[in-house]
Amino acid sequence: MSKVAGRMSVQAAANFLQQPNGGAGLLIGGVPGVPPAKVVIIGGGVVGQHAAEMAIGLGGNVTILDRNNTVLDECEARWGAAVTTVYSTSSALEDLVTDADVVIGAVLVKGDTAPKLVTAEMVKAMRPGSVLVDVAIDQGGAFETSHATTHQDPVYMVDEVVHYAVANMPGAVPRTSTYALNNATLPFTLALADRGAKEAMLGDAHLKNGLNVTGGKVTEPSVADALGYDFTDPDAAIADLAS
Ligand SMILES: NC(=O)c1ccc[n+]([C@@H]2O[C@H](COP(=O)([O-])OP(=O)(O)OC[C@H]3O[C@@H](n4cnc5c(N)ncnc54)[C@H](O)[C@@H]3O)[C@@H](O)[C@H]2O)c1
Repeated sequence: MSKVAGRMSVQAAANFLQQPNGGAGLLIGGVPGVPPAKVVIIGGGVVGQHAAEMAIGLGGNVTILDRNNTVLDECEARWGAAVTTVYSTSSALEDLVTDADVVIGAVLVKGDTAPKLVTAEMVKAMRPGSVLVDVAIDQGGAFETSHATTHQDPVYMVDEVVHYAVANMPGAVPRTSTYALNNATLPFTLALADRGAKEAMLGDAHLKNGLNVTGGKVTEPSVADALGYDFTDPDAAIADLAS
């Protein structure tokens, strides 16, 4: 779903950058003689790289920030000079965000809410009609000024800056999303059907890692912590399951 949301984030940005839709009236790729829009992507993981793929394809001036050097290396190796990679610090963020036409929030901190990397002050300093797309809104959002929106009413303005923060972006493209989800999950479904839950998980550490709750016990530490339940070791919980 991150691949879908990452790709959609640039479609949304391109749409809301158009003047009749509240944006600054810019074409992401510009045209010969007119510079492209500046697209800043915060977080170069799955969402960020799929957003970059689309923004580069449209001819945008693309910058990716991350605080994981391996991710920055990956982006540099993948796109070379077509992308600028920047180690994410608060000063780099402030410089890039306040000069951006589009900012895409694509960060994830596992087991935690998204860090509020873009402050209300930064938003105030942006050019009118710039577009923020907060893909990380399902984890609380990466922008201080974000609140979750829906496909029925996807955007709102703060300080003349367009905010798009739909919490379930892939829901707008259900045909693509359903096939993508099936491609990723069908092998697990078949294993569960063929071998039963216990044997399927014992035979696949990756499937076992996805176990959150079984037999009334919470087996994922961050879920137990967030909801105030005791954590049970997944191996112990699986051993109690009937074969
Ligand atoms: N709105 C939606 O419909 C939708 C759909 C899918 C995913 N998401 C959300 O999108 C976000 C990104 O998901 P993902 O799958 O790409 O995660 P990911 O783990 O693949 O990538 C997250 C990246 O953020 C980077 N990061 C963390 N802290 C950072 C910081 N302070 N500065 C810069 N980079 C930082 C990490 O190093 C990592 O590369 C998540 O919050 C996810 O829940 C939303």
